[in-house]
Amino acid sequence: MTEHFIFSGHDTEDLAAEYGTPLYVFSEDILLSKAASLKNAFESAGADYEINYAGKAFLNTAVCRILDREGLSLDTASGGELYTALAAGFDPARITLHGSNKSERELREALEAGIGRIVVDSEDELARIDALTREYGIRAEILFRINPGVDAHTNELINTGKTDTKFGLPLDCAARVILQTAQMPYVDTIGLHAHIGSQVTDEEAFVAEAEIMSGLYRELLERGLPLRELNLGGGFGIAYRTGDETFEPEIYIPKMVERIRGIFETEGLPMPRLMIEPGRFLSAEAGITLYTIGTVKEIEGVRTYVSVDGGMADNPRPALYGADYEALVCGRRLTPENAKKVRVSGKACETDTLIGEIELAAPRTGDILAVRHTGAYNYTMASNYNRLAKPAVVLLSGEKSGVIVERETYEDLTSRDRIPDWL
Ligand code: LLP
Repeated sequence: MTEHFIFSGHDTEDLAAEYGTPLYVFSEDILLSKAASLKNAFESAGADYEINYAGKAFLNTAVCRILDREGLSLDTASGGELYTALAAGFDPARITLHGSNKSERELREALEAGIGRIVVDSEDELARIDALTREYGIRAEILFRINPGVDAHTNELINTGKTDTKFGLPLDCAARVILQTAQMPYVDTIGLHAHIGSQVTDEEAFVAEAEIMSGLYRELLERGLPLRELNLGGGFGIAYRTGDETFEPEIYIPKMVERIRGIFETEGLPMPRLMIEPGRFLSAEAGITLYTIGTVKEIEGVRTYVSVDGGMADNPRPALYGADYEALVCGRRLTPENAKKVRVSGKACETDTLIGEIELAAPRTGDILAVRHTGAYNYTMASNYNRLAKPAVVLLSGEKSGVIVERETYEDLTSRDRIPDWL
């Protein structure tokens, strides 16, 4: 039975026909509706807040334009992300630079661009920033990344707030390091930051983080540091497949604001500006990937493999984190009669399982397969493994669609190769 899969108002088979596959499709409307839900949550709680989109989830110049236009702030984690934002004309005042090992060049780029904030990760880095700001004679507003020692109960590779982690200042030495800034003429400590992990669905972990961070913030305020911002990072998990555990920041945020109010206002202390840094929550559901089904291989008594024209090169998450995805055949409705349990594999020369097991509607060679919720950490983590050219990214804005990142060509793949003179 035919059924068009309409994504954000667009027929996915038409998109595949017009732009080719594999194809990343990204919806501005979904991104904005996710952002609106967070804004509403803060506003209904009456909080002073700022939403910093975490660029590592999905970033390119067009997305920067949208975020800038919407007044969202941006978390960048490298010189490349910072460059992208600046090239797009993003307001530097709303950019933050992160990173557990920023290079001197990256720090210089941030200072030269006059970005709003640098999140300092270590005592080492603080010394570098002190020296650079003295050299330039310009002030830097900084936040300190603190490791609150909270287990976010997520995949070990993205569980970043536990005691044993490369990120942030351990809680027990934080105050000592932070108070050093009082002697630094060009360094202004304006706040604290923490990020406990990604794809977190455990509300208790976020609550513990908020309480520990508020405690330290309060202690520093009382010791005379004029802090004004508390950044609790990102990490809000989403449901990749129906039935997955989910987390609803729209419900959590007002609760979190209330708790933090309890810690500050009841004591007559000024409430900090509350900041969050969601990446996945804003962008994952705004993206799908369209593939063309190639080989369908039935192994008697074992399983059926459905292979698509992309795979771990455009989505390494299943291979890296055991991530699971939902997919559907675009032109055919799934019914009890046509449902076929299959494994979806990529085309890489290794076992690049994209989806371990899923029911698809009688998948056939030439069908278009849509994998959902690929808007975060797919395009940004793509590689050229097997010399596969990276797919194009198409943006959907209302009724409009257009390429925002061109598909790579074979020529692109060799364009940076060089032959040394002895060959
Ligand atoms: N802020 C900081 C300092 C971060 O390190 C991250 C993510 C975020 C915010 C945004 O986290 P989100 O809201 O997107 O969960 N590649 C992994 C995710 C790594 C996340 C790293 N940091 C994945 O594909 O699941």
